[in-house]
Amino acid sequence: MAILDVTDLHKTYRDGEILADVLKGITFSVEPGEFVAIQGPSGAGKSTLLNLLGALDRPDRGKIVIDGLELTADVKKSQLDIFRRDKIGFIFQNHYLMQEFTVLENVTMPLRAQGYTKAEATERAQQVLARVGLSHRVEHFPSQISGGESQRVAVARAVVKSPPLILADEPTGNLDSENRHRFIDVLNTLQAEDKLTVIVVTHEAELAMAASRRLLMRDGRLEAPSQV
Ligand SMILES: Nc1ncnc2c1ncn2[C@@H]1O[C@H](COP(=O)(O)OP(=O)(O)OP(=O)(O)O)[C@@H](O)[C@H]1O
Ligand SMILES: [Mg+2]
Repeated sequence: MAILDVTDLHKTYRDGEILADVLKGITFSVEPGEFVAIQGPSGAGKSTLLNLLGALDRPDRGKIVIDGLELTADVKKSQLDIFRRDKIGFIFQNHYLMQEFTVLENVTMPLRAQGYTKAEATERAQQVLARVGLSHRVEHFPSQISGGESQRVAVARAVVKSPPLILADEPTGNLDSENRHRFIDVLNTLQAEDKLTVIVVTHEAELAMAASRRLLMRDGRLEAPSQV
């Protein structure tokens, strides 16, 4: 069974009198363990789509089913909060780490929110931080580590709770080439070893090539893979 099923998704933004049709009927599905890259020109609607998949925003029309839950208009905000907490790992272009907490605390936080004890959460977080090569940075604060390291903390934070779906929007957008390689290597390894389901929006060919499937988004529509 697909982990993600999207049918005829539409989203329109209103800017004063002007209506912009940003998503014009998106249909696709993703199987468990797939690593999908979505490419496409700026303004195509990629971030809009990812925000709908992560329940950060709601569609005007269409259907989204993630891990058996349909994100319909009548799902309550409190249910969506729990959905995001349990089902989705987000990685953004900017890591959005909590500055007043250490690296370790940033990664234990999603587990604590799910009810893990401090000891369990700390053990799991340390294991994941070791896998992204950051065991030596656990007691540092975000301001004391590099941009590349921060983005690997963001990966650790996203995967630590083993969510059914990981969504990443331009995760290498702010990285230099060395850190980009490192990031892709880490994401690739975790994805393969843990059979994670990942959807990544990216302009970077190197990251897109790491994916097992590539989709092209253009002007609010997904084009057939054969055209990519
Ligand atoms: N909250 C909003 N209100 C109005 N218009 C919006 C809003 N968010 C996005 N848009 C418009 O929707 C279109 C698609 O935006 P989106 O951010 O999804 O593109 P994108 O494919 O992610 O582009 P990029 O590659 O530059 O990140 C753009 O024309 C944008 O201006
Ligand atoms: Mg975008």
